[in-house]
Amino acid sequence: MAQKTFLTGDRPTGPLHIGHYFGSLQNRVALQNKGYKPYIIIADYQVLTDRLDSSKIAENIINLTTDYLSVGLDPEKTTIFVQSQIPELTELTTVFSMLATMSRVSRNPTVKEEVRAMNIESSMSLGMFSYPVSQAADILLPLADVVPVGEDQLPHIELTREIAHKFNTTYAPVFPIPEPLLSKTPRLPGLDGKQKMSKSRGNAIFLSDDDATVMKKIKAAVTDSDSVIRYAPVEKMNVSALMDLFTVVSGVSPEQQEKDFAGKGYGDYKKALIDVIIAFLTPIREKRKDITPDVVANVLTQGNAQMREKGIQTMKQVREAMHMNYPY
Ligand code: TRP
Repeated sequence: MAQKTFLTGDRPTGPLHIGHYFGSLQNRVALQNKGYKPYIIIADYQVLTDRLDSSKIAENIINLTTDYLSVGLDPEKTTIFVQSQIPELTELTTVFSMLATMSRVSRNPTVKEEVRAMNIESSMSLGMFSYPVSQAADILLPLADVVPVGEDQLPHIELTREIAHKFNTTYAPVFPIPEPLLSKTPRLPGLDGKQKMSKSRGNAIFLSDDDATVMKKIKAAVTDSDSVIRYAPVEKMNVSALMDLFTVVSGVSPEQQEKDFAGKGYGDYKKALIDVIIAFLTPIREKRKDITPDVVANVLTQGNAQMREKGIQTMKQVREAMHMNYPY
């Protein structure tokens, strides 16, 4: 069978955290090592959909790439590229914007939720409205078969499938109909217990945090009013969130943690949690030491070139299918 291709990616808005690792990075590395051809997009234009401040994007791209390499994404196997550096993505977005209807794009629940969360109902940009169409181009330019994503991205994949189908039946079969691949690890709660771990909520442990920062964050994490280590996500939300974190980084189940910490208090528990988090982060941090800005620049230069080559090929097929590969 032909090698399968996957594409996924992130907006360069800040450092990646442990929730990203277990929710998606781990899965990407596994697929890479299983022989899929991976493409990872750093979606810098997409950042501008809900904010115009672009002053941090360049720096965030470097840090994001460093995070990728530190967890084992291998640039020999994985093409890591920057959205704005691939003009063919913009060209394909133009074609796709004719294949999607306004009413279809208006019904995207993820976009609605993002607009609501950012409070920009009355000032939504056209780019925000249509970014799922641009995301369809991200996925289909490298002809991806599989898209590993979180659940919030499913509406975008559904639209991508419809666009691919419409192109194929209107012109000629150029595109695969890509499948989403959901990660098995459920959303990791943040250190505040209430919400998912998220950089914007200040409740995250970053892959780049040093030991002192990990200690400070865990010590400050909210616990519950009693002092028992018991897993009860509703009644004891805060401690249960810490126990979930303990489980993902150490593999020790909540039941086993209850046994191990019977009769002990939150102080002892937090000490042990700090230890398992540091043990998890240490090899990642070791790897980071070798990843200089020069290394990153090389990886991205190479990735952009690889993606352009692929993009030029796909656009040639697109133009041929549309009888728009003019000789002039
Ligand atoms: N929308 C994704 C996010 O916010 C990032 C992204 C851009 C993406 N293009 C993509 C993800 C294509 C998967 C496939 O995280």
